[in-house]
Amino acid sequence: MNPANNELILVTGAAGRLGAVGRTVTGLLLERGLPVRAMVRREDDRAAALRAAGAEVVVGDLLEPADVYRLVSGCRRIYFGMSVSAGYLEASITMAAVAREVGVNALVNMSQMTVSQMSVQNTTPSPQQRQHWLSEQSLAWSGLPVVTIRPTVFLEDFFLPITGPSVRDRGRIELPFGRGKTNPVSTADVARVVATVLADPAPHLGRIYELTGPRSQDMDGLAREYSDALNRDITYCDISPEDWERGLKKAGLPEHLTRHLVTMAELNRAGRYDRLADGVQRVTGRPAMSVREFVSLHAGEFGGGLSQEQHSAAG
Ligand SMILES: NC(=O)c1ccc[n+]([C@@H]2O[C@H](COP(=O)([O-])OP(=O)(O)OC[C@H]3O[C@@H](n4cnc5c(N)ncnc54)[C@H](OP(=O)(O)O)[C@@H]3O)[C@@H](O)[C@H]2O)c1
Repeated sequence: MNPANNELILVTGAAGRLGAVGRTVTGLLLERGLPVRAMVRREDDRAAALRAAGAEVVVGDLLEPADVYRLVSGCRRIYFGMSVSAGYLEASITMAAVAREVGVNALVNMSQMTVSQMSVQNTTPSPQQRQHWLSEQSLAWSGLPVVTIRPTVFLEDFFLPITGPSVRDRGRIELPFGRGKTNPVSTADVARVVATVLADPAPHLGRIYELTGPRSQDMDGLAREYSDALNRDITYCDISPEDWERGLKKAGLPEHLTRHLVTMAELNRAGRYDRLADGVQRVTGRPAMSVREFVSLHAGEFGGGLSQEQHSAAG
């Protein structure tokens, strides 16, 4: 093994749901035989699973500087990412301060693709996007060896939970995205990019990787990919932004997340998610997963697909 590959790698937010970036990155690094310290918020089944997979599991809070110091000490490479939440910028700057003090060889920072369209004069109403923009700025000032990952909207963490139930129950994708085009990316691909960078950071230091799926298309196009994957008719229903916001509030989501999702929908409607970037292919050497492939892989969660005979019988 390359001696540099004995460097302990810290993965924050490693518990996550199935398909979350930190959790998948941990698995990919362990598969490569690399030593991983997986940071979780609490001891639970997810922590036990990470330990059983071979990670050193450490419990901590990214908003507690003493915890962050304990997590980072001994690690030379870091993946920093956590859930969309109000304390994101504070956690990010705490991580930067600690990484400067401890000294690291690479800090891979999760951000969002919208940041590439932001500036002092041009911001968005999403508190999360503003925090990512500020976080990128402060990491640039820090002088740390940073690699920036800017994915567009996730298939696993947005399209699956948000469109899964209505596709299953009504054969409809119900979103307020108007005629805007979008090009979601799979967190499986995002995690492959992050793991590739962490495994050998030197060629990537200072780079920004923008990540999308392989095709930017409007929601009717996306619905056709769902239909092809499930072999049944799935249609797009353009719901009103007001109904969407009311639904999010009724679901009891935190204010920070609601404001982020409402902004995302507005930007989608305005065509700001019409993007195509080759980061997945460039870093991993493999093309990004399509919507059709993703829906096929998760057919059960979308209510299942029809066989050719069932499809013909359904008319
Ligand atoms: N969703 C999208 O469409 C999208 C698109 C582009 C970029 N992103 C970015 O991707 C990131 C989220 O990635 P993800 O979906 O993989 O993450 P995630 O699964 O939502 O969160 C990862 C972990 O962060 C942990 N966490 C939250 N607050 C913490 C704290 N104070 N201290 C320690 N851990 C904490 C959570 O722990 P618990 O599980 O214990 O709560 C969770 O397991 C964000 O930066 C987001 O802006 C998301």
